Amino acid sequence: MIKITGLEKLYRTEEVETVALNKLSMEVKDGEFVAVMGPSGCGKSTLLNILGMLDDPDGGSFLFNNIEVAHFNERKRADLRKHNIGFVFQSFNLIDELTVFENVELPLIYTGVKAAERKARVEEVLTKVQIMHRRSHFPQQLSGGQQQRVAVARAVVNKPKLILADEPTGNLDSSNGSEVMQLLTELNEAGTTIVMVTHSEHDARFSHRIIRMLDGQTVTENILI
Ligand SMILES: Nc1ncnc2c1ncn2[C@@H]1O[C@H](COP(=O)(O)OP(=O)(O)OP(=O)(O)O)[C@@H](O)[C@H]1O
Ligand SMILES: [Mg+2]
Repeated sequence: MIKITGLEKLYRTEEVETVALNKLSMEVKDGEFVAVMGPSGCGKSTLLNILGMLDDPDGGSFLFNNIEVAHFNERKRADLRKHNIGFVFQSFNLIDELTVFENVELPLIYTGVKAAERKARVEEVLTKVQIMHRRSHFPQQLSGGQQQRVAVARAVVNKPKLILADEPTGNLDSSNGSEVMQLLTELNEAGTTIVMVTHSEHDARFSHRIIRMLDGQTVTENILI
């Protein structure tokens, strides 16, 4: 699904230039569950943003399903992204002014799904993450664990092939964190490919393989299964 070779990303400000990704190479196969670990600032979020086509690299190759996307413009990236990729972030990133139902419905509006089908699909995923009873609540009226379950519902409502998660349990206590890891595991078992950044060795054990990063490069890989 993903084949990255010699990926580079630089951040320039007036005084300094930061090499966030330094000729990084990695591969993720269809159906894999991969954890990405490494110290703060080593480039994990930068890598995930490029994998998710939220940002573009300064050099190297990024094949997504055998298509070179490294030089795609923003419109083409957005098109590929909204049909193929779901995101889960540490800080949930729900829209405060929208209800639970409306937050999860949003990706379906972006992909042009009709209202009746939207309602059916949103209700299906809200049931799956056990938050249907809070469908008319606003994010601020939910616990952290509940908000992250809504975020997972939003990530999967378009049935993406790939889920990218950046420290999905980082703001959760261990019991809510376990629920989110359980949800991700179920999605992976149903065929969704997952790339998850985490600082937690415990969470990483839910994955099949750990890619360890240092200074913008991958350093080792541990196969878990
Ligand atoms: N928008 C930006 N402008 C300038 N530098 C940036 C920007 N985003 C990230 N960086 C730098 O790029 C490097 C990699 O950052 P990144 O956010 O990918 O790290 P990370 O591995 O996700 O860290 P953490 O575990 O703390 O989330 C860091 O040195 C960071 O300071
Ligand atoms: Mg990060």
